[in-house]
Amino acid sequence: MSTATIYAEFAARECHDVSPAYESLSIAVARDREMIARLETLPPAKRQPNLLFAAVRFLDGPVTDPGAFLGFATERWPEVAAEMLVRATQTNEVGRCALLLPVLAELPQPLALLEVGASAGLNLFLDRYSYQYSDERLGTGEPLLECTLTGREAPTRRPEVVWRAGLDLHPRDVTDPADRRWLESLIWPEHDHRRERLTAAARVAAADPPLLLAGDLVDDLPALAAQAPGHATLVVFHTSVLYQVPDRPRKTFVDLVRSLPGHWVAVEKPDILPYDDLPNPPDETLHNVLALDGRPLAWCRPHGQGMVWF
Ligand SMILES: C[S@@+](CC[C@H](N)C(=O)[O-])C[C@H]1O[C@@H](n2cnc3c(N)ncnc32)[C@H](O)[C@@H]1O
Repeated sequence: MSTATIYAEFAARECHDVSPAYESLSIAVARDREMIARLETLPPAKRQPNLLFAAVRFLDGPVTDPGAFLGFATERWPEVAAEMLVRATQTNEVGRCALLLPVLAELPQPLALLEVGASAGLNLFLDRYSYQYSDERLGTGEPLLECTLTGREAPTRRPEVVWRAGLDLHPRDVTDPADRRWLESLIWPEHDHRRERLTAAARVAAADPPLLLAGDLVDDLPALAAQAPGHATLVVFHTSVLYQVPDRPRKTFVDLVRSLPGHWVAVEKPDILPYDDLPNPPDETLHNVLALDGRPLAWCRPHGQGMVWF
């Protein structure tokens, strides 16, 4: 896919009806040959819309007016490119906990959670947050995560978690001001509710810092999994991670995770982690697939806004 098409697709499939600001920025970038040429001086993995927009926000640039955005990105291109090269899209989206919870609540308890691609590890605390599934409320803690659930009953309990650990190439620390600023820059402009839930979840993590290790999801997974307590059900999970992992290590990871004891829960794009015989998605917008042990279960909206059970 060309860089211009990536931006046009991002506008249509991910931003439409979700972020008018990023929809118009993506369209403006897709049409601006000079900006496309600048982006193409970066390695392919560093040309992503989310990375460009977050880098401009991190530098306090404008992201609601396309003309002002293009002016800033052009004038400050060396700084913007430098941020894009050293940083990665590491959005830690706690809304995705609402996608994991129905599956985790039904596994044999208690659980030992191991998240690969954990970013700041905020999704390791999914047992402490509260949930609103359509009309059903579960739990009382903050943040409150809202998810439209179709095709099954809402979960009636949160899992019991006795061990939690995260693995990430670059773990982020919510108590570090620069890390926190980057995590906030990755949240889309209009999404105040996502900023609020990041703040609430960061409070939970700061009070009880998770075990977060710098490492690779293939090379370092077996040793970390071996630390999980034997009396608990080990669950290795990941959400929106594998698109950042090249084909060959991705396949190695899938073989590896299948060989571990316990369960494997994935929320990933179906072109990245494919399955046979998926039903049609609910609409044209981007959907990920929730799967347990390689069995697909539901279509999921990217930030956990909703899920449609198969
Ligand atoms: C888009 S973020 C998603 C973070 C988190 N899973 C969530 O949904 O909120 C993807 C994360 O995967 C991490 N990652 C990418 N490749 C990895 C690898 N080979 N091993 C471990 N972590 C990796 C990145 O550093 C980043 O923090």
